Amino acid sequence: SLAAVDETVPSPNRTQDRREPVADAPLTGGFENTADTDPHLPGNREWGKAIIARVGSSTLGDQLVADHTVASVEGVESVLEGAVGAQSDWGRKTGAERAAILRAAAVEVERHRAEWLEVAASECGKTLDQGDPEVSEAIDFLNYYASLAEELDTVDGAHQVPVRLTLVTPPWNFPLAIPTGGVAAALAAGSAVVIKPAPQAKRCGSVLVETLWAAGVPKEVLRLVHVPENEVGGALIASPLVDRLILTGAFDTAELFRSFRSDLPLLAETSGKNALVVTPDADLDLAVKDLVYSAFGHAGQKCSAASLGILVGSVASSRRFRDQLVDAVTSLKVGYPTDPTVQVGPIIEPASGKLLRALTTLAPGEEWLVRPRQLDDTGRLWSPGVKTGVKRGSEFHLTEYFGPVLGLIEASTLDEAIEIQNEVDYGLTAGIHSLDRAEISQWLDTVEAGNAYVNRGITGAIVRRQPFGGWKKSAVGAGTKAGGPNYLVGLSDWVPAPATT
Ligand code: ALA
Repeated sequence: SLAAVDETVPSPNRTQDRREPVADAPLTGGFENTADTDPHLPGNREWGKAIIARVGSSTLGDQLVADHTVASVEGVESVLEGAVGAQSDWGRKTGAERAAILRAAAVEVERHRAEWLEVAASECGKTLDQGDPEVSEAIDFLNYYASLAEELDTVDGAHQVPVRLTLVTPPWNFPLAIPTGGVAAALAAGSAVVIKPAPQAKRCGSVLVETLWAAGVPKEVLRLVHVPENEVGGALIASPLVDRLILTGAFDTAELFRSFRSDLPLLAETSGKNALVVTPDADLDLAVKDLVYSAFGHAGQKCSAASLGILVGSVASSRRFRDQLVDAVTSLKVGYPTDPTVQVGPIIEPASGKLLRALTTLAPGEEWLVRPRQLDDTGRLWSPGVKTGVKRGSEFHLTEYFGPVLGLIEASTLDEAIEIQNEVDYGLTAGIHSLDRAEISQWLDTVEAGNAYVNRGITGAIVRRQPFGGWKKSAVGAGTKAGGPNYLVGLSDWVPAPATT
């Protein structure tokens, strides 16, 4: 159980906060982003090593998975009915009361940072440097939506009718932050929640829910359920008791869910095929660093990951850029998170289908700048690959792969780069590296992406600063920006208060 902190893993040293508070008008009660664990502070390397030492034999969450697995349609209905029955008490609380519980939950998550990292590493292959910002983001979601819940009490002339029941179906690639975001927003808005973790991240989802329960979130209001993906899972999605569904997953999954229930109100963040443009006016050193991190962090398994580098004009023929990119990619250490020096972890399942094709084959005109290699016989460990000569309109240009492979496309001008970037069906993240203001504003005016980043990597949106969600086929439904205010509004109906005379 997580009720008590395991004292054998000491707390990390958190004496520095590199994130300054946002300068604009403060929220009621205030909100500040929490800091990641700084590995350079005294004691933190030892703290990380103590976590890693436990990863190989970790059983965190196992019992919870067993306890909350539901194998029948009747069982699913009973969980949903229980949540609906408990909602009215929760919805009648003031926003400030709900906020107090969410803030307590944020404190509890911080107390259990080590366990959260352990379960994400052991179940989903997350290295600590990828998992730690995820825990920070989960804490941010809880505190941010607590702040918004407090604001609900102060809105004049309107009152809120909470959605009764929100179903949260998160992905396995951010098994801590994304589910916490959906759960926190729905709870803040006064809704009851049923969460169904991804099949590959059941233990993570279970540990998360137990942490929130330990902080005082009522068990009746936040329900955990693991269901097989057959008619039992279908009964969950199709149930008329579900008033709102928060899905983060593939576009096809969102469409599949809609086929179960055509009127399903959905807030879905779906797929991405994201590119980072590098112009001749860029700081090329920084561009290489951001491109490599965005492409290969968590082995490229992020909907936000850079899958394409679009090299404008002379960048494509720059020897220096090419050599630095090759050096940076080939020096990445690949392995399992049981090794503290690993930077690129395993992929979640053995490479197959289109990802295997992208890792092993070249289309006409393509060449390997760095050829990926399969590093063991599990099929899950691949060294990162970079292919050049990707053609506009080719399969690589337009397909999401969700793995450690990056393609480079050449563009003669910034106009052409933007056309290439916008030609994909998706519109999730996008980036430009340029130090030229005119180029940056032209790009910002025309790029089709929910999260457009300038001179920065394109992964790792920060709660409140960069509300996260896309356009085009990267979103299904409405109000998808997690970490921004619309997400909360999307989880409740706002009606004007009756006129007073
Ligand atoms: N919110 C995650 C990111 O920005 C997906 O990378």
